[in-house]
Amino acid sequence: MSSPPGGRAARARHADEEVRYQAVAEMDPGRAEDRTVLLERLADPSWRVRAAVAERLGSAAQPLPVVGALIAALQSQEGIGAREAAGEALARVGSPALPALMTRLEDRSPDLRQAVASVIGRIGDRRAAAPLSALLADEDPNVRVAAAEALARVGGPAAAAALHRAVETRDPALRLAVVEALASLRSWPPGLPPSALMADSTLRRAAYRLLGSCDDPAAGPLVAAGVAEPGRTAREAALVAAGQQRSRRRPADLEPLASALRTRAAADPTLADTCASALASDDDAVAAGALAALGWIGGARHVRAILRLAEDDRHRATVEEVLASLPRGDAVRTALAESVTGLGPAARITALAELARLGSAEALESLSREAADAMALANAEAAAALRKLGLPRPVAGAPAAERAGAAAAAVVPAPPPPLSDGEFEALREVIHGHSGLWFRDDMRYLVERRLGPRVQALGLAGFADYRRYLAGDPGREAELDEASELLTTNETYLFREPLQLGAFQREVLPVIARELAARRQLRVLSAGCSTGEEAWTVAALVRESGLFEGWDVEVIGVDLSRRCLAQARAGAYGDGAFRSPEAEPLRRWFKLRGGRWVVDDDLRRTVRFVRDNLLAPRALAAVSTLDVVFCRNVMIYFDADARRRMLHRLRERMRPGAWLLLGHSESLLNLTADFSLVHLRDDLVYRKPRLAAAEEDA
Ligand SMILES: C[S@@+](CC[C@H](N)C(=O)[O-])C[C@H]1O[C@@H](n2cnc3c(N)ncnc32)[C@H](O)[C@@H]1O
Repeated sequence: MSSPPGGRAARARHADEEVRYQAVAEMDPGRAEDRTVLLERLADPSWRVRAAVAERLGSAAQPLPVVGALIAALQSQEGIGAREAAGEALARVGSPALPALMTRLEDRSPDLRQAVASVIGRIGDRRAAAPLSALLADEDPNVRVAAAEALARVGGPAAAAALHRAVETRDPALRLAVVEALASLRSWPPGLPPSALMADSTLRRAAYRLLGSCDDPAAGPLVAAGVAEPGRTAREAALVAAGQQRSRRRPADLEPLASALRTRAAADPTLADTCASALASDDDAVAAGALAALGWIGGARHVRAILRLAEDDRHRATVEEVLASLPRGDAVRTALAESVTGLGPAARITALAELARLGSAEALESLSREAADAMALANAEAAAALRKLGLPRPVAGAPAAERAGAAAAAVVPAPPPPLSDGEFEALREVIHGHSGLWFRDDMRYLVERRLGPRVQALGLAGFADYRRYLAGDPGREAELDEASELLTTNETYLFREPLQLGAFQREVLPVIARELAARRQLRVLSAGCSTGEEAWTVAALVRESGLFEGWDVEVIGVDLSRRCLAQARAGAYGDGAFRSPEAEPLRRWFKLRGGRWVVDDDLRRTVRFVRDNLLAPRALAAVSTLDVVFCRNVMIYFDADARRRMLHRLRERMRPGAWLLLGHSESLLNLTADFSLVHLRDDLVYRKPRLAAAEEDA
């Protein structure tokens, strides 16, 4: 875009958001005149511009001149956006702003005291623990709660001690905030009997979260007691705590919890069934806790229920681990073998992979057969399962059971070298830098399990060498791609999330057809398209609507994974791709060839697949301005920063008024206010705001 006339200050007030953004990004907060404009733009209507302003003001080499004005702006009457941007800038200034902020903790305005306490919490400087502790006794209830939240962020022994003292307060809102804060600090108040918190039903969930997060050996039996509670609310909260304990701690440290649960299960044979039924909970954390509990007490009887959860991307890795932890006996082996039929494709592949790990030649043979198809066609899950077993390609000549048996013995990986906390942190930074994937602390075992075979395949001594390889070896780019592929989940199928696609077909497409009638061009992006099913589904829906005859229509599928894209381009699928009942009518766009459903040439002309990293600064450069973006089940693997970066990039590539459709468990809450929420009859979607009519015409 060529720069419009006028100085930077004029451009910073221009009607076009992009012009304002560029102008603000160039400003120097060290110069008084730029500083004045930046402080004024804290109230800019665009989130993106406000974020750039906060970044500029927060990065001043001499921050003190801006601190006073930013503190004043925490009470800005121009809206919450301006107040948040001021808070963000102060948090970026960090400790140098602390002395000025602390003097305002006794301000007469409770709103300011509350805002200042929050900013101090975000700065996270332990010197603030004492004044924040004093604020726990503030006369205003919101200030007291803000102080507890800030102490959780500041951390350290002084903050924990202040929270311990406050735990028995009579103010219920503060008590809840204190227990939540202690849960973040993983600190149980010394000497406090658990019953003191468990007796209060409003606190019980938070109290179990505290138990789930603390390393006290006494926590295990208390959590086990909670899992056995007759009341559902308490039981589910305890299951969440069990899941937290499992994901945070080393297996050896979990023994008190595991054995307490086993003892209770021995006394009460219905306990395992109760946990198995909690696997179906809508609350992910409860289901994850139930999985953990079954890993400790479950047996062959629950293998099928456990496997069923492998159909959900978010639980697949835990299912694999829980299956691996079940007693290695014939009963489990038989239950796995029986489960291979009658479950969804992802669960079936998980069962086959576990059987192969247990040395079953037949299972390895089945996996190899499906993955061999995948080389030319599509069964990404079988191929991925083989890769996780350390086999880059199917066992050659798979049909001979003896050969497969020998291969199974050869490939069942030796236990992967343990991944230490330090190596995990370093490795996840490298992966995050490359692909945006972010692994929480509790996902260390997943990373260890999935990358362990690569460490072995490359002949490296351990994960520390692997990280060095990723940092310096000439083959690093290829290996970073390989590692990212192993760590991503590529689960997808035709007509996934039918409610949303129905809403798209009935409510969105007619609006688009009306609004773009003059242009007669439609560009749709399937971001993170995996093996292509989403792109083909959308293309078929557009065609079937009959609204775009004679238009220039293109659906573009983008993904990081070369393997997935090869399968997407092949456009050939097994029956598993049609697992959603709503996908059945789509068979008319496919022809059955050699046992695979191969996409029709007519539909093929509408769809193009491009390899790209959605987080690269110039991502989607090869894609023209977009009218619709499907970005479903991709952000769930990113941290907040990567989500914002990707959304920002997508937004840049969208025309004003373009539509954004996310996966059913995803939203833009707390990420960006730069899209407007649209309530359709059956779904919630987003749109990039339209410009004023005059600007849109320009
Ligand atoms: C679970 S699949 C989602 C498939 C499809 N959108 C759906 O909802 O059915 C997630 C996909 O995102 C891709 N992905 C992850 N990070 C990516 C990145 N930084 N750039 C491009 N694709 C990425 C993965 O390779 C994977 O194929």
